Amino acid sequence: MSDNAVLNGTSVTEVQIPRIGLGTSPLTGGQCREAVGQALDSGYRHIDTAENYANEDAVGQAVAESGLRRSEVFVTTKFNRDSHGDVATVRSAAERALQRLGLDYLDLLLVHWPNPDQDRYVRSCESLAALVETGLVRSWGVSNFKPHHLEKVLEAGLVPPVNQIQVDPHHAQRSIERANTGAGVLTAAYSPLGRGGAVLEDPAVRGPAERLNRTPAQIVLRWHLQQGRVAIPRSGDPTRERQNLDVLSFELSADEMTAVDAVDTGAGARLDADEFGH
Ligand SMILES: NC(=O)c1ccc[n+]([C@@H]2O[C@H](COP(=O)([O-])OP(=O)(O)OC[C@H]3O[C@@H](n4cnc5c(N)ncnc54)[C@H](OP(=O)(O)O)[C@@H]3O)[C@@H](O)[C@H]2O)c1
Repeated sequence: MSDNAVLNGTSVTEVQIPRIGLGTSPLTGGQCREAVGQALDSGYRHIDTAENYANEDAVGQAVAESGLRRSEVFVTTKFNRDSHGDVATVRSAAERALQRLGLDYLDLLLVHWPNPDQDRYVRSCESLAALVETGLVRSWGVSNFKPHHLEKVLEAGLVPPVNQIQVDPHHAQRSIERANTGAGVLTAAYSPLGRGGAVLEDPAVRGPAERLNRTPAQIVLRWHLQQGRVAIPRSGDPTRERQNLDVLSFELSADEMTAVDAVDTGAGARLDADEFGH
């Protein structure tokens, strides 16, 4: 398995996204800067932030301090509901994010939530696709889009390269992933470790962890990767950060994958994208 997945898109050049990225919410300020800095030192090349996390400045500082070339780090950010709209509005959101990050282009810019009450998410997707043409963003996508939101974007003739949604073995969100896959949209899993909760204690996860001498988190992340997702685990701890990145050199068997699949509770996301958004 390669370290990167390919993003479908409107760009003429192929955009590759590292399969494991560092999640950064709710880290802010010095804590965020430290977590991102140590992650980049450990080999992470993909960082996930958002306007709403109030940490783009800290992420940008850590990237600058890393000594890495800009082209070596993949930076994702997302914009809030008041920036949904026409190209000028979305462009302004991108420019403000770039200013906070101290960067001159974004690798991936996402509509953070569909906010269907405003009914401007399709227009926002059109605007994002237009922004790729300007070089301000290399690729674009959506987050927290349910199949009926995605459908409206597809009807407008656009295929978002990415849909970032909550997925862990207890919340597999199969209907959303099926819709993503059917449309050629890459699924990026947020809260991929179930926020460090019960899923890491599940026997379907602990069994392979013992067999392979790996941590439960590594088993869960490997499950994501073997199913073709990108995952953005968050840790502020340098050892756990390193472990979470080290998931490319072992493999779960077909039976182990099936056993992890079987622990899905069928529960939906923590927050309902038809009701919640910012
Ligand atoms: N698009 C969206 O709407 C959206 C929503 C939520 C989150 N996100 C993104 O997704 C990222 C990740 O999601 P998340 O932070 O909610 O949950 P998560 O990554 O599933 O879990 C984070 C928790 O797991 C712990 N953890 C990390 N690695 C571990 C390991 N190897 N063993 C045991 N525990 C471990 C962390 O604690 P320590 O720090 O102590 O290691 C932390 O408490 C966020 O940071 C954010 O970037 C996006």
